[in-house]
Amino acid sequence: MLADETVQRQLTHSITLRHRLHQIPELAFEEFETAAAIRAELDRIGISYVAGVPDAPTATIAWIGDTSKPCIALRSDIDALPILEQTGLPYASHHSGRMHACGHDGHMATLLGVAALLKSIEDRLPVCVKFLWQPAEEGGGGAWRLVQAGVLDGRVGPKVSAIFGLHGWPGLPVGMVSTRPGPLLAATDNFVANFVGRGCHGAFPHLGRDPIVTACEATLNLQQFVSREMDPTDSAVITVGIFHAGTATNVIPDNARIEATARTLTPEARKMIREGCERRCAGIAAANDCRLEFEWIEGYPATINDPAMAEYVATIAKTKLGANRYIPAARPAMGGEDFAYYLREIPGCFFLVGVQPPERASYPPLHSDRYDFTDAAMAVGMRMFIELVLSFPPAT
Ligand code: NI
Repeated sequence: MLADETVQRQLTHSITLRHRLHQIPELAFEEFETAAAIRAELDRIGISYVAGVPDAPTATIAWIGDTSKPCIALRSDIDALPILEQTGLPYASHHSGRMHACGHDGHMATLLGVAALLKSIEDRLPVCVKFLWQPAEEGGGGAWRLVQAGVLDGRVGPKVSAIFGLHGWPGLPVGMVSTRPGPLLAATDNFVANFVGRGCHGAFPHLGRDPIVTACEATLNLQQFVSREMDPTDSAVITVGIFHAGTATNVIPDNARIEATARTLTPEARKMIREGCERRCAGIAAANDCRLEFEWIEGYPATINDPAMAEYVATIAKTKLGANRYIPAARPAMGGEDFAYYLREIPGCFFLVGVQPPERASYPPLHSDRYDFTDAAMAVGMRMFIELVLSFPPAT
């Protein structure tokens, strides 16, 4: 229903728009300049919107089409990272120390392009389409705030029956689309374990209780959770990334503190890892006559695609882009994404869009100070979103 030429024409405009957004990266919940740019573009297209929801003033929610029809949502994240950009691009960040190193500028411009294209055929849409420009994906859990504010359940705009989102993916060539049914990305919980012993002179260890030896034992033992408690065909990661203890070479300190991330792919594994980490730390603390202070910091849930919606994304990619343009993701990745919160509420699918140009043998990874969302990938993202809308609901 939308010719390639129409999408290509929109792409030219979306490139300008992305470059402007790339210049003004802002951190979680501070995306006011970004939100203003998104809203100015919606004004230009002639789409009305809700400017902010409770606890997320930088969110922008819009919808088009007949609200009596089923509503499907398309989501873009809008925040950037505290990174000093090193791309040397003519449109590099104007905000020193902040950068669109995860390519959310590309996601935003793609979704604005989709909004413009679908608006031009609004009276022919088979569904109502809701657009979510969501703040704070990078650790702030903006998606959860939008869920709580009612963007899915009908309190803000029409009730949503399915949701789709995309992410630029450096390991995938431009033109390709990838996803999988079930878990695609991991839950991102963290914990802090503080081992409290009793400090003393390093030459007289029997007079104290050594928290460093204790925390070292725990750091090693935690790895046995994955190898001995997880089903070997399932997957999890525990990484201790911070270890703080001591101030002098010959002194046993009072405490040693470790901080770790625990990644899992199912709600069951998530429950197990929490219990397992605390039990192992507590047992080792007890064996060494130390006290344990344990704090679990809940992160994002695992991003679990609805099998039927993942199948729908695969079918759309293969039939609308080309049979060889879809690569099934063989395995989940252990990174995280707050799109997970939407998928806990309603069916949907998060998919990956290639950003590696064909002439390049490799591409800077996400969150690299040299990462840049590839302009040509926006045409693929736009085409996918548009076809997902136009062919909805999936044939059963
Ligand atoms: Ni991202």
